[in-house]
Amino acid sequence: MSGSLTTVAYIGATILFILSLGGLSNPESSRRGNLYGMIGMTIAVLATVLGPRVSAAGLGWIAAALVVGGAIGLYLARTVQMTQMPELVAFMHSLVGLVAVVVGYASYIDPTVAAGMSPAEEHIHLVEVYLGVLIGAVTLSGSVIAFGKLSGKIGGKPVLLPARHWLNLLLLLVVLVFGYRFLAAGSIQQGMTPLIVMTVLSLAFGVHMVMAIGGADMPVVVSMLNSYSGWAAAATGFMLSNDLLIVTGALVGSSGAILSYIMCRAMNRHFISVIAGGFGGDAGPPKAAGAAQPAGEVVAVSAQETAELLKEANSIVIVPGYGMAVAQAQHTVYEITKFLREKGKNVRFAIHPVAGRMPGHMNVLLAEAKVPYDIVLEMEEINDDFPDTTVAMVIGANDIVNPAAQDDPSSPIAGMPVLEVWKAGTTIVMKRSMASGYAGVDNPLFYKENNRMLFGDAKKMLDEVLGALKA
Ligand code: TAP
Repeated sequence: MSGSLTTVAYIGATILFILSLGGLSNPESSRRGNLYGMIGMTIAVLATVLGPRVSAAGLGWIAAALVVGGAIGLYLARTVQMTQMPELVAFMHSLVGLVAVVVGYASYIDPTVAAGMSPAEEHIHLVEVYLGVLIGAVTLSGSVIAFGKLSGKIGGKPVLLPARHWLNLLLLLVVLVFGYRFLAAGSIQQGMTPLIVMTVLSLAFGVHMVMAIGGADMPVVVSMLNSYSGWAAAATGFMLSNDLLIVTGALVGSSGAILSYIMCRAMNRHFISVIAGGFGGDAGPPKAAGAAQPAGEVVAVSAQETAELLKEANSIVIVPGYGMAVAQAQHTVYEITKFLREKGKNVRFAIHPVAGRMPGHMNVLLAEAKVPYDIVLEMEEINDDFPDTTVAMVIGANDIVNPAAQDDPSSPIAGMPVLEVWKAGTTIVMKRSMASGYAGVDNPLFYKENNRMLFGDAKKMLDEVLGALKA
C-alpha cells in the first residue's frame, strides 16, 4: 500500500473514531458508535500493517502477534463478568502505559530512528521520548493500583504518606532535573541513567497518586487514567511518527479529561484536589467505635410486603446500584417495570453518575435488559421528584443514596450529591446485609422511619416480588 493510500485510510479511520465517540455519548446511538469504532480500528490496523513502513519480513511477526493478542482479547471478552469490566478497563489502560514506556526505550536506543535528523529534530525526538516514557510509566503503575482497588485486591482506604504534597513536588523537581540531564547527554549510554531514574520515579508517582485516593473518589481516577492512557498513546504516536495514533490518543485523552471533569462535578470535588490525593481521608478524625454505627432499628419487609407496597403506589422510582450488577437482576427489574407500567403506574429510573463501578454502568445494564430510555433519568432530572414519589425502590445501591453526604460534614462522602430517596413516601432498600458500600461509610437511610429493608440477593428477591405481583 502506498504512502498516500495509507494517509487516506488514516483520515477515514480518524473520521470513524470521531463518529464513534459522538455515537457513544447517547445510549440510543451507542451500538452504531461501537460499529464505527470497530470499522475504524480495522481500517487503521490494516493500513498500518500493509503500509510502507512495514517490511515484508516483519509481516510474519505481526500476524503472529495479531493471532495471540486477538485470541487473548476474544477469550477475555467472552469470559469477563459484567462486574469485572471496570478492572478490565483499568488493566487495559495499564497496557497502553506499558506500550508507551517500551516504545520510548526502543526508539531511544534504535540508532536508525534518529539517523538523518537535524540537531533540532533530534532534540524534539528526545523530548518526545522523555515525556512519552513519563506519561506511560505514571499510567502503567497508576492503572495497576486502580485495577487492584477496583477488584478488591487492594483496600479502598486512602494511603496517605506524611507531607505527600511536598513529596510529589520533590518528585516533579527531580524529574525535571533528570530531564535536563537526559537532553544534555552526549550519548545513549549517558542518557540511559536519567531515563531509568525518571521511569522509576514516575512509576512510584503513579502508585502514590492512586493509593492516596479514597474509595468514593475512584470514579475520578478511573476517568483520569482513561485520559492519561490517551495521552500515552498520543506520545507513542509522536515517537513512532504515526499521525493516526497521535490523533486517536488526543481524542481519548481529551474525552477522558472531559469525563474526569464531569465526574468531579458529579462528586462535587475539585479536579486538582483529587489528583493531589487524599480525598476520603481528610474527613476529620475517625468517630469513636460506638458512634460509628448510626443509631436506630431497621424495619425488614418480605417480598410479599414489597409487592403490596408497589401495588398501592402510583409513582415509583427505581434506583439501581452496584448490587444490581452483582446480582445480574436487570432483566427481572425490567419484567417488574413492564408489569407495573401495564397497570398504569408511573415507573421511572434514577441514575446517579457514579452508580456502579464505571461511568454509565447502570445505563449499560438497563439498555441490555431493554428498559426504554425515556424512563431512565439522570440525577438532576429526577431528584426534585422524590417528594411526589410513592415508593423509591433502591436495588443494590448504597453510597449514592446516603443522606450523610448532605447531613454529616465529617463523612468521607460529605458534599457528594446524592439521590434524595428518603423524601419519597416509602423507600425500600434491597441488599443482602447491613454492610456498607464502596466508600465504606454507614448509611443512616436504613434507619429512617419511612425506610424498609428487603434483605437478600437482589435477583432472588426481585424474582419473588415479581411472583407476588403476578399472583
Ligand atoms: P455501593 O455503594 O458500592 O453499594 C452497593 C451495595 O450493593 C452494597 O452495599 C451491597 O450490600 C449491595 N449488594 C452487593 N451485592 C448484592 C447482591 N447480590 N444483591 C443485593 N445487593 C447487593 O454502590 P453504589 O451505591 O452503586 O455506589 C457506587 C460506589 O462505587 C460509589 O462509592 C462510587 O464512588 C464508587 N465507584 C464508582 C465508580 C464509577 S465510575 N461508577 C468507580 C469506582 C468506584 P450487601 O453487601 O449488604 O448486599
